[in-house]
Amino acid sequence: MDRPRVVLGVAGGIAAYKAVELLRQLTESGHDVRVVPTESALTFVGAPTWAALSGQPVSTSVWDDVASVPHVKIGQGADLVVVAPATADLMAKAAHGLADDLLTNTLLTARCPVVLAPAMHTEMWEHPATRANVATLRARGVVVLEPAVGRLTGADSGKGRLPDPAEIALLCRRLLARGAQPPDLVGRRVVVSAGGTREHLDPVRFLGNRSSGKQGYALARSAAARGAEVVLVTTSALPDPAGVEVVRVTSALDLRDAVLKAATEAEAVVMAAAVADYRPAQRLAAKRKKTATLTVELVQNPDVLAELVAARRPGQVLVGFAAETGDADGTVLEHGRAKLARKGCDLLVVNEVGEDGHPTGFEGDANAATVLAADGASTDIPLGSKDALADTVWDLVVTRLTPR
Ligand code: CTP
Repeated sequence: MDRPRVVLGVAGGIAAYKAVELLRQLTESGHDVRVVPTESALTFVGAPTWAALSGQPVSTSVWDDVASVPHVKIGQGADLVVVAPATADLMAKAAHGLADDLLTNTLLTARCPVVLAPAMHTEMWEHPATRANVATLRARGVVVLEPAVGRLTGADSGKGRLPDPAEIALLCRRLLARGAQPPDLVGRRVVVSAGGTREHLDPVRFLGNRSSGKQGYALARSAAARGAEVVLVTTSALPDPAGVEVVRVTSALDLRDAVLKAATEAEAVVMAAAVADYRPAQRLAAKRKKTATLTVELVQNPDVLAELVAARRPGQVLVGFAAETGDADGTVLEHGRAKLARKGCDLLVVNEVGEDGHPTGFEGDANAATVLAADGASTDIPLGSKDALADTVWDLVVTRLTPR
């Protein structure tokens, strides 16, 4: 099989040094990468670095190797174009169709999915000119990732960091896995919850569950790759997916507040979190001392999904997850159908859980499920990666979103 052909555009920002790691991640996972830097990117990282690590020639200009017509050929031949970092200047040029170097020409000739990973100071990202350019690019189907929040070039912090290169590489892989299909969640705002909640007994101890958060992170990554603006409300400490706004929470009550707040602006909410049904009636301020026996009174937590259903915006698609085991009262799917009706959501992703060693058990990278829909439809997702399951869930959500 041909290796997927990726064009890595690098614009002139300090985060160009992180694009070296992105290049390594892409080549080591079997992609054929052609690096197209801008002239100013080379003031941060020189052409020999890009050429040596990609194994391909590097040029910033349309006037090198003219006989091969590189300004057309590179874009036309690409399966994916990713620009990291994308500067305010590069996005302004792309939004207006300027083509004064090899990278901007390549952006005009590419017909494959295009991902821009902006990195700049917060002021530049928030400037109305940049906002307008980002909106224009997104309206054309370009996946413009939200920058990460954190330390910027100087001593200051804020929104504007390039996301983790390893996560940008994972996002690129998700897009490539979808082939030539255009990103179909561009301009849609979605919320995903992930991980198991922790219900504290005292400052040291909590009641928890075994959810790793991996399925929720796969859902967030898949949505971001398809162009969505994603809020991930999570209890997990996994690395932040590229382009995703991450809200960290601990307990079911924290998760509820964060999900309900984010849901007011969302077109879809996927509740992949394992929300504890109960919490200790009291959270002690000081560590509990040992006693001969211990009885803990538990009180019920709110049902977040039920509250989302009650507060649903017109057209909002709500997705629940249900880890079930069959029992004397019914099979896994019978319990799933009953839960779907009880919860009132649009889709319920039902998966069978078993003892350790079960292929779809907790903490693993594989999953299988049946997605039950309120309209009676049912979709089997065979055993595969959590990423593949996430893609199918979004396929089902997309068909239920209000058309634009
Ligand atoms: N959920 C929720 N709030 C809760 C419990 C669960 O929002 N307090 C959500 C989960 O995120 C999941 C769905 O509801 O998407 C189903 O979770 P599950 O624990 O299977 O549902 P329960 O109503 O608690 O059913 P059961 O009686 O089987 O525990």
